[in-house]
Amino acid sequence: MKFTKNIIVTGSAGQLGQAFVNHLINCDKGYYVYSLDKKKINNNQKNLLNVEIDITKEDEVVDFFSTINNLYALINNAGIGVFTPFLSRTVKEFKDVLDVNLVGTFLMSREAIKKMVKLKYGKIINIGSIYGVNSSDHRIYGKSKRNNSEVYSISKSGIIMFSKYLSTHFAEDNIQINTISPGGIKRSQSMDFIKKYSKKNPSRRMAETNDFLPALDFLLDEKNKYINGENIIIDGGFTKW
Ligand SMILES: NC(=O)c1ccc[n+]([C@@H]2O[C@H](COP(=O)([O-])OP(=O)(O)OC[C@H]3O[C@@H](n4cnc5c(N)ncnc54)[C@H](O)[C@@H]3O)[C@@H](O)[C@H]2O)c1
Repeated sequence: MKFTKNIIVTGSAGQLGQAFVNHLINCDKGYYVYSLDKKKINNNQKNLLNVEIDITKEDEVVDFFSTINNLYALINNAGIGVFTPFLSRTVKEFKDVLDVNLVGTFLMSREAIKKMVKLKYGKIINIGSIYGVNSSDHRIYGKSKRNNSEVYSISKSGIIMFSKYLSTHFAEDNIQINTISPGGIKRSQSMDFIKKYSKKNPSRRMAETNDFLPALDFLLDEKNKYINGENIIIDGGFTKW
């Protein structure tokens, strides 16, 4: 098969990023995936290139983009949080979250859009969060020490607005920019937390990474030419009560 559509996925060593990359390289749609993460990964395949990069470093991002020509899509998935209480929040913690979630997304998007404007084509999918739309409910976090922070929420609502802004500014260049906002994904959380979160969720469970793949396919589909600036919340209905 000829791989004709280059897709960049950031945060590709993480839980969601790995699921995205595995899906895209195996879905027979001609995708060639640039898998970007701060962590080194060494399993390149015929349609996969792992690149070690810190997306908050402008020179690294600019250098990376100088190595690619065609670009079909960018998935800005890298993101971090901080879980300590607000009253002990440090300036460093605050800035670190904004740096990865917003500055990194901004740098990747700016360089990608430079290419896309020339190509008159492109799709960007930014990964937001339900906590960019609603505040996290501290009652379900209890003493889990995983309480989502104000700065994470700020960064994710910033992502949603960033997508909207860019979508209006580059629609004429045939570039679509949308957000997918996931709800909580199951991994190593405490049983107490999983139970409380699931009880509050109309679907009675946390998300699995597979729950996000249909939306990814849908937004990346060539036939999708008119969905722009949307925020697709995928949370089993968690935010809909
Ligand atoms: N896991 C969830 O429950 C959940 C819920 C809603 C939204 N999200 C969002 O989904 C995205 C992926 O989440 P995840 O749970 O897979 O995260 P994760 O922590 O498993 O993976 C994040 C990846 O980003 C990489 N990364 C961090 N800083 C980087 C940098 N400066 N440069 C390059 N790579 C960097 C890390 O090395 C890591 O591999 C994030 O944006 C997150 O905010 C996750």
